[in-house]
Amino acid sequence: MKLPDFFEEDRLAVDAALERLLPAEETPPTSIHAAMRYSVFAGGKRIRPILCLEAARIFSEDVTPALHPASGIECIHTYSLIHDDLPALDNDDLRRGKPTCHKQFGEATAILAGDALLTLAFELVGGTPVDAERRVAMLMEVATAAGTVNGMVGGQMADIEAEGKRIGAKMLEYIHRSKTAALIRASVTAGAICAGAASKDVARLRKFGETIGWAFQVTDDILDVEESSAALGKTAGKDVAQQKATYPALYGLPRSHEIATELANKAIAALEPYADRASRLREIAEFLVLRRT
Ligand code: FPP
Ligand code: MG
Repeated sequence: MKLPDFFEEDRLAVDAALERLLPAEETPPTSIHAAMRYSVFAGGKRIRPILCLEAARIFSEDVTPALHPASGIECIHTYSLIHDDLPALDNDDLRRGKPTCHKQFGEATAILAGDALLTLAFELVGGTPVDAERRVAMLMEVATAAGTVNGMVGGQMADIEAEGKRIGAKMLEYIHRSKTAALIRASVTAGAICAGAASKDVARLRKFGETIGWAFQVTDDILDVEESSAALGKTAGKDVAQQKATYPALYGLPRSHEIATELANKAIAALEPYADRASRLREIAEFLVLRRT
């Protein structure tokens, strides 16, 4: 599908920011910086940073400060992929169409590259050029989203423990909302906070972010069944092979498509008060459930 032009503009801005903010490959120890850069610049879609920038744009014309939380969140996302691919977790050889970080650099370096990206993320968010109150609020949003209580690590733990088990709708919802939606929600709220949104606006955008994040993971489950490894840049069909808890496994494909669309519509409804100012966030939400990669 054809992406709106602003996707490419935002992606270029985010890539330039990451290029500037990540330690140079020549900085010692060079091997860890090479591994961090290898995975960060492996060709991700940059959905989370784009959401962060476009949430900021609702409240401010100048979104340059939001490049900090946007880059930090992409570092957290990349760390989660590096660790998710490790032999002890999902054990995958292919990511973003390239050998996974541990295949390229060895397991020890991949573990440390993930740790380093997570730590760097907080340096980047904490160093955002806005007042201290906004910086602290963004740090709290991002830290809780990445953590164990309804956050990414908690969701990943539950995901591993659900493998091969018959789990119900409530548990599946918990896994998806924690493992994936929490960081997507933080991308949106951090952007809004960075741009000075009032607390009632942050609350509305939180609703948008968590609902579109949930839809995003339902779509990810669908793509794992419907698309090829070549299209996805990662091993397709792994969820069935690993007996993962997914929407297609619990509801079947047709109903999973409906659920993704219903969630996207619900997310978009939360943007109603912003009218045209939120048209880009609406376009992103539509893309996230129609995408094929
Ligand atoms: C694909 O994102 C990634 C997901 C759908 C998230 C899955 C969640 C995890 C891997 C959590 C792992 C957590 C830990 C703690 C190991 P994407 O389609 O945006 O990927 P892209 O950046 O390559 O485009
Ligand atoms: Mg996984």
